[in-house]
Amino acid sequence: MSTLRDVLAASPLPRLEAHVLWRQVLGVSRAWLIAHDTDPLTAGQLAAYRALESRRLAGEPIAYIVGHREFWGRDFHVTPAVLVPRPDTEVLVECGLGAIASLSAPRVLELGTGSGIVALTLALERPDAQVLATDVSAAALAVAQMNARALGAKLLFSLGNWYDTGLSLGTCDLIVSNPPYIDARDAHLVQGDLRFEPSVALTDGADGLAALRIIVHGAPAHLAAGGALCVEHGWDQAAAVRGLFQSSGFVDVASVQDLAGIERVTWGRLPA
Ligand SMILES: C[S@@+](CC[C@H](N)C(=O)[O-])C[C@H]1O[C@@H](n2cnc3c(N)ncnc32)[C@H](O)[C@@H]1O
Repeated sequence: MSTLRDVLAASPLPRLEAHVLWRQVLGVSRAWLIAHDTDPLTAGQLAAYRALESRRLAGEPIAYIVGHREFWGRDFHVTPAVLVPRPDTEVLVECGLGAIASLSAPRVLELGTGSGIVALTLALERPDAQVLATDVSAAALAVAQMNARALGAKLLFSLGNWYDTGLSLGTCDLIVSNPPYIDARDAHLVQGDLRFEPSVALTDGADGLAALRIIVHGAPAHLAAGGALCVEHGWDQAAAVRGLFQSSGFVDVASVQDLAGIERVTWGRLPA
């Protein structure tokens, strides 16, 4: 009879990915898996694992297979309607939290919330903030709303096309966004995990800066004096995005590196 140790040794998947799938099949912790890796597996457990393993081998993101992903130490429900949360996006959250650190009861707008990781984390880390999260995808907003209920976050949601939404907070102290920024001609869009993610979350259908131009140019009309804008962007877009900020009247414009040392987030403030 096979044991977990036998199956892991023969698996074509990286050990960590196989562990995540086994945890899903058995409903146990990683520590349990390690402690019980010589227990015999039933035929039903093996068949359930093989079904998940073949989906992963076909390229489907692990987060879609297991239905959740951790971000900022919290577990978020994830479906194919939303971008899989990326660890790099924690830099965007850090930037946003820093921008409102000295304000009480700040008004915060997130454009393109997807699973809600950014808006919900800001709302949970700053319970005094008034947060509005928007998205053009009703299916994505439903996932974000489910996450808000599960995590007990209090915020507003609105369906809309960037600034064109049914709800408004008036002028905001902070706007954050991780918009689709992949150039429509980028070959990666039809490779690997990206094939499974919603196209509207990945590419603006143009040069990769189209959504960023709308967000940056539109921000001054929605920000209070001294208000901040923080956006995530591609590895090679920082200089272009800083140019958009400067031409839109932002000051103290700077880019922040992710854990890999890549300029991943750009931010700036309106003059006070
Ligand atoms: C890169 S994903 C970011 C999702 C989430 N904020 C995150 O960081 O994981 C971009 C999001 O922008 C949304 N989006 C795309 N076009 C939009 C538009 N015109 N107006 C509002 N949201 C849009 C997509 O549906 C998607 O959820």
